Amino acid sequence: DKDMKIVILPGDGVGPEVSAEAVKCLELLSSHCGLGLHFETHAFGGAAIDATGSPLPDSTLAACQGADAVLLGAVGGPRWDGRTEMPEAGLLKLRRELGLFANLRPARVIQGLEALSPLRADLAEGADVLVVRELTGGVYFGDRVLEDDAASDLCVYSRAEIERIAHVAFQSARRRGRKVTSVDKANVMATSKLWRRTVVEVAEHYPDVALDHMYVDAAAMALVTNPRRFDVILTENMFGDILSDELSVIGGSIGLLGSASVGASGPGLFEPIHGSAPDIAGLDIVNPAGAITSAAMMLEQLGMADMGRFLAEALGKTMLGGCRTADMGGSARCSEFGEAVREHLRRRLVRYDAHLE
Ligand code: NAD
Ligand code: IPM
Ligand code: MN
Repeated sequence: DKDMKIVILPGDGVGPEVSAEAVKCLELLSSHCGLGLHFETHAFGGAAIDATGSPLPDSTLAACQGADAVLLGAVGGPRWDGRTEMPEAGLLKLRRELGLFANLRPARVIQGLEALSPLRADLAEGADVLVVRELTGGVYFGDRVLEDDAASDLCVYSRAEIERIAHVAFQSARRRGRKVTSVDKANVMATSKLWRRTVVEVAEHYPDVALDHMYVDAAAMALVTNPRRFDVILTENMFGDILSDELSVIGGSIGLLGSASVGASGPGLFEPIHGSAPDIAGLDIVNPAGAITSAAMMLEQLGMADMGRFLAEALGKTMLGGCRTADMGGSARCSEFGEAVREHLRRRLVRYDAHLE
């Protein structure tokens, strides 16, 4: 049958608040349209450290491996900083164990909301960028040494790791503006030299997609001076982490961005790009848009593209209609915002039903 198991990992800080709103949207769609989504919540991150001693308990990992998709809130917080095994280590292990080498982070300035961008509206208008971030290699997973007077972090990439993420970027570009900008530091780093060489070779398979290269420092500058020059940004793990936070605010807030992490097979992981935001946790003021966007991306990846589109459209209508959380200059609570999205969804589903009859 078409029953689907969705594992929810609320995590820490604002994670439970944003994931709860996303799950309620999914429950609404599933019960109304008979999607057969079943939700199972598991301990993860700091919450799991408190309960079990480990940020990624075996039972949580096993549940994720047996799921059709995983929806994650956020992990981490000052409570667990400085521990030998931090909540963040659980997230890295989960990505690695599930083989999620490709992290897709789409950012867009919504037409009509240009005034919410910290950039001048004429610069921000129409920006629409997809970051394709390599997620299971590089300095995140190299050997580390920490001694009293010295420390090191090893950055390693194999040709095969670069090839497979490059293919994801070029294939994504075919569904968008057909332009890939590969971002590296090939004027300094050996991994970047191999990165650039390999990307040029993979590009030969995609003559219909334009390719250019930028150093990461110049790319950081261009993102805020000329964001429209970008379509797909292809980059390594850490550069992608940093550039996507920078890119996220161009649309008004880091709270807007969702992401999909996928591998060659198995369940995908869907999470907002922001963290556990300890400074605003528990106040019901966090923006759940990134988590809801991640849920929409999950629906699309599960083969329910029309449902994903309904959810994304309801989100856009909510913000354009003036319902906005504090980070977007509004006063809506997180729970109110989620309910407003679901109200738009309900209206859309009425029209959908009428169409089916
Ligand atoms: P953060 O993204 O949690 O917060 C940065 C700033 O943005 C804060 O002022 C926060 O209030 C604000 N913010 C973030 N998301 C928001 C939202 N949805 N709505 C409104 N405002 C929002 O980054 P940080 O403060 O550097 O990290 C806090 C903790 O989160 C750390 O422990 C870090 O390791 C962790 N972290 C986890 C993830 C993840 O789980 N994927 C991602 C990033 C950081
Ligand atoms: C993210 C986060 C993580 C990362 C941290 C929490 C390990 O910043 O998902 O962007 O660096 O990948
Ligand atoms: Mn990050």
